[in-house]
Amino acid sequence: MGIASRPKSKVEFGDFQTPMSLARAVARQVAASGFAPATIIEPSCGAGGLLFAATDEFPAFSTALGLEIQPRHMAAALERRAGRQDEDRITVIEGDFFARDWAETLGAVPDPLLVVGNPPWVTNAELAAIGSTNVPMKSNFQGRSGLDALTGKANFDISEAMLLRLIDALSGRDAMLAMLCKTAVARKVLEHGWKKAAKVESAEMYRIDSIEHFGASVDACLLMIRFGRPNVQSECRVFPSLGAKAHEQTLGFRDSRVLADAAAYDRWRHLQGEGPYRWRSGIKHDCSEVMELVAATEGLRTRGGEPLDLEREAVFPMLKASDLGNGKVPAPTRWMIVPQRTTGEDTSRLSRLAPNTWAYLNSHADRLDKRASVIYKGRPRFSVFGIGEYSFAPWKVAIAGLYKKLTFHVIGPHDGKPVVFDDTCYFVPCRSEREASIVASLLNSEQAREFFSAFIFWDAKRPITVDVLARLDIAKIAAEKGRLSELQEVMGGTPSHEAPMSAGSLWAK
Ligand SMILES: C[S@@+](CC[C@H](N)C(=O)[O-])C[C@H]1O[C@@H](n2cnc3c(N)ncnc32)[C@H](O)[C@@H]1O
Repeated sequence: MGIASRPKSKVEFGDFQTPMSLARAVARQVAASGFAPATIIEPSCGAGGLLFAATDEFPAFSTALGLEIQPRHMAAALERRAGRQDEDRITVIEGDFFARDWAETLGAVPDPLLVVGNPPWVTNAELAAIGSTNVPMKSNFQGRSGLDALTGKANFDISEAMLLRLIDALSGRDAMLAMLCKTAVARKVLEHGWKKAAKVESAEMYRIDSIEHFGASVDACLLMIRFGRPNVQSECRVFPSLGAKAHEQTLGFRDSRVLADAAAYDRWRHLQGEGPYRWRSGIKHDCSEVMELVAATEGLRTRGGEPLDLEREAVFPMLKASDLGNGKVPAPTRWMIVPQRTTGEDTSRLSRLAPNTWAYLNSHADRLDKRASVIYKGRPRFSVFGIGEYSFAPWKVAIAGLYKKLTFHVIGPHDGKPVVFDDTCYFVPCRSEREASIVASLLNSEQAREFFSAFIFWDAKRPITVDVLARLDIAKIAAEKGRLSELQEVMGGTPSHEAPMSAGSLWAK
């Protein structure tokens, strides 16, 4: 179900009550670790599934507390409590997680302390869309800068805000945090704990099937963090399911960040560095219905079928992630209008150099002017981004950012023109086919693959990013493979981002 079609309170409170079978499996997993709590806290307890599963699993507990913001759920939890023989040891109260001083609340209860829960599955952006105020008071709790806030990086999960507060309050205690959450949230929470030197003794993630349990397709897990003596290893084993005996992955914390494969990082960290190539993303225009054209036998057409007679200088064959992500790369069938040579260049020069293209863009100006992203504000009309001399390099080594495949492709000119990419792809520019094929074979090598696997979280929305790609120094991998002099020869001694790519710069001055 789309967010817009769900009831407002369900969205606002990220309200997916944990089914009892899952709640019991969570409690069993905690027990299997050997942890036995005196205190049990459920900070957004809903109707109490996890709270009562935990009190049932650990009958020797001395005190339990459930907090819930929605009165109807709190009433349901109170009803479940009524008549239990441990009733007098369980408190359920109505309240807002963000209004509570957790250091004080947790300071008042005895260790060992279990904080168990399933915090709301909703982001601050989704809350903003429905005008909700169910957000932490200081919503920039991650300390993001203004630009990140503008570009949406400041979007965060409400559960992340809750878990970070709990981590801070639990550091130094004999305690366990056991929370159902998105795997991406779990990683951020772990990173925070490790960065802040919270006394994390051990950490484990158990993947759960969120479709089966919640009817929602999200990569989710049970995150279990044991607080106590700090562990110098800073590692977290990831298990494929609750109850699984063998782990499938070990996350690690190195150089201030969480890594997907700590062992691979330790093996290949010497390949890190800036290197002679700079990764670029493809061209961003946010208006494919106008900017992207289809090649038909009689010439170019709009995607809607309108035949066009545009100047050849203004259009370039293009590839998208879907072309790069599925095995063999097909010949381009789409073309892109590229109205600039560099970011911010005055586009009105097209009226003189490419009058048909200028007329076409003006006839669709209403669509282009409506592009919502703030990056287009105050820029020349019809501007694009991710554009520079590198866009016109004749040869490129490219990869799709959205696919779960680490394959680099050599892309050469098509129909006498350099191929461009949309912003779902990343590439390095090359001067010749030989250079591109050497770079691609280095990037596709086993060593490079292992190096990248240290950084890539395959369950992320965009697993491959410029940030990950830029970590590998291509000259160092060439040295590792005994191919450094070959690489230096094809580079002509110039880093590719400094070399002129004149072969592809087809725009007349
Ligand atoms: C994903 S549900 C899980 C409920 C319960 N923990 C369980 O496992 O069944 C999230 C719960 O958090 C509650 N909630 C949302 N925002 C809250 C807040 N600011 N303070 C306390 N509870 C909140 C919702 O009402 C909902 O019951």
